[in-house]
Amino acid sequence: MVEAALDTILAAMPQAGEIARPERLLAAMRHGVLNGGKRLRPFLVLESAALFGVKQDAALRVAAALECIHCYSLVHDDLPAMDDDDLRRGQPTVHKAFDEATAILAGDSLLTLAFDILASPETELPAQARLDLIQALSRAAGFGGMAGGQALDLAAARDLPDEAGIIRLQAMKTGALIRFACEAGAIAGKASSADRERMAEFGSAIGLAFQLADDLLDLTSDAQTMGKATGKDAQAGKATLASLHGPDWARRQLRGLVLQAEELLSPYGESANLLRAAARFVAERSH
Ligand code: IPE
Ligand code: IPE
Ligand code: MG
Ligand code: MG
Ligand code: MG
Repeated sequence: MVEAALDTILAAMPQAGEIARPERLLAAMRHGVLNGGKRLRPFLVLESAALFGVKQDAALRVAAALECIHCYSLVHDDLPAMDDDDLRRGQPTVHKAFDEATAILAGDSLLTLAFDILASPETELPAQARLDLIQALSRAAGFGGMAGGQALDLAAARDLPDEAGIIRLQAMKTGALIRFACEAGAIAGKASSADRERMAEFGSAIGLAFQLADDLLDLTSDAQTMGKATGKDAQAGKATLASLHGPDWARRQLRGLVLQAEELLSPYGESANLLRAAARFVAERSH
C-alpha cells in the first residue's frame, strides 16, 4: 500500500504552473524512494493512525510524506560530503546512479514534496490536524531533529561525545522521525495530549533501539545482508553505543528498550499488537 501510494504521488508530481518537467530529476527522486526500503516509518504511521480511528487513505498520505523525508535524508546522508556511500538498499546510491548535483536536488525536492502532501486537501484530515502534522514533521526533520542530529553526528567524528552526548545526537538524527511516525496517528486522530505524549515516548524508545541496532549491525553484519556498506562507523572514527560497550551489551540494552516500549502501549490492549511486533522487529532485525 505504501509502495503504491508513493508511486502514485511521484507519478503525479505537483507543479507550480506550466513549467517544464525535469525528467532526470524526477528519475533520481524515484530512484531514491522506490528502491526497496523497509518502510518501517510508514508502517508505524499506519498502525498508530489505526489506534486513533484515522481513515486509512489519509494515514497513507501522512505515511508517504514521512517516507519522502526519510528517503531524502538517506540520499543526502550518502553524499561524498557526508558518509560517502556507493550502496543503498542493495543498489547504487542516487549520486552514483546520477550525479551529485542531481542527488542534492532530488533530496531538496523530496523534502518539499512531503509538506505539499500534508498540506493538500487530498489528505482528508481537518485543516488543524494537517497544520499540526506539518509543524511536528518540520521540527522532527529540521534543526532540532534529523538535520541537527546529522550535524552533531558529523562533528562527533572529530570530537568524540560521551555516552549522554551520543544518546542526544541519536535521538535527533534517527529518533525524531521515528518519534513523529508514532505520534502522527495521535495528531491526525485528534487524540488527547496524554495519548499523543505516550505515543511520542513509544516512538522515542524504538527510535533509540533502531539506531542502536543499526550501529550493532554496522559492527557485526555485512554489506550483502544489509544492502549498504558496513564497518563505516569505525572507519569514520565514530563512537557509537554499540562500539563503546560491545555487541552483548547492545543486545541486552535492546531487549530493555523493547520491554519499555511494550509497556507504554499497555492502555491500548490488543489493538496495539502490531506496534508491539514492530518494536521487537526494530531490535531483532538483521538488515
Ligand atoms: C536507515 O534507515 C537510516 C538510519 C536511520 C539508521 P532504515 O534502515 O529504515 O532504511 P531503509 O528505509 O529500510 O532503507
Ligand atoms: C543516518 O544514520 C541517519 C539519517 C538521518 C539519514 P547512518 O549514517 O548511520 O545511516 P546509514 O547506516 O547510512 O543507513
Ligand atoms: Mg550518517
Ligand atoms: Mg550513512
Ligand atoms: Mg549506520
